[in-house]
Amino acid sequence: MRYRAIGIFDSGVGGLTVFKEIAARMPGENLLYLGDTARVPYGTKSVETVQRYALEAAEFLVDQGVKMLVVACNTASAVALPGLRKRFQLPVLGVIEPGACKAVHSRNRRIGVIGTEGTINSGRYPEAIRKLLPDAQIFSTPCPLFVPLVEEGWADHEIARLTAAEYLQGMIEARIDTLVLGCTHYPLLRETLRQVLGDGVMLVDSAEETAKSVARIFAEEGLENPQHGGERHFFVTDVPTRFERVGRAFLGTELNRVQQVQIG
Ligand code: DGL
Repeated sequence: MRYRAIGIFDSGVGGLTVFKEIAARMPGENLLYLGDTARVPYGTKSVETVQRYALEAAEFLVDQGVKMLVVACNTASAVALPGLRKRFQLPVLGVIEPGACKAVHSRNRRIGVIGTEGTINSGRYPEAIRKLLPDAQIFSTPCPLFVPLVEEGWADHEIARLTAAEYLQGMIEARIDTLVLGCTHYPLLRETLRQVLGDGVMLVDSAEETAKSVARIFAEEGLENPQHGGERHFFVTDVPTRFERVGRAFLGTELNRVQQVQIG
């Protein structure tokens, strides 16, 4: 069991932020990544559709014999996690609980949450935060333009700053001291968000918190790979060209071994 790979899936390229954090913390683990690039985005789709896509993506990775499933996509984590946990015997981890655990370190208990429409409409982040901090005041807003801006390579562009200022105006007025980056792409906007919000607001990177949780679960359950394999393999459901190009910016390295597959 311990020698098996960790399976990570996302709607597309964004989950590479989670992949990157896991690879950095657990270099000896073998990692399989699936990006459902033929059906991206998930963030604008209905709950039923995202649940079906997530199940098919998870089935593909489970068939590869992974020892754990990481749902890197915030939208899929928000709506599909209970179904996946019921369906599969292995540990299934999403990005919402780890993000919420960090967010509750807020000092003034005024917490902002940003994500896709699907993630925000699900209300899962507020639910997870309130479970740990019942009197938290939570301010949520979808930021649908952030995903295309990041994929265009404009995360640090003036357009991204203006867009962020517009989206976050209400949260600034609400004096949040913590902002949950509830979407795979948002860690790349960290610097832009910091410029708009100032240094006093803690930015919670769900990708980083998820990787910490994976490492903790592995240590607790003795799931660490003692062989130090460190193999990485990427699967996509559409031609790999765009995934390889955009993914380079997410990972900071070339993506080798990207294979197109059919799922569902
Ligand atoms: N991966 C998605 C998420 O984290 C963003 C892209 C999409 O809408 O599919 O919610």
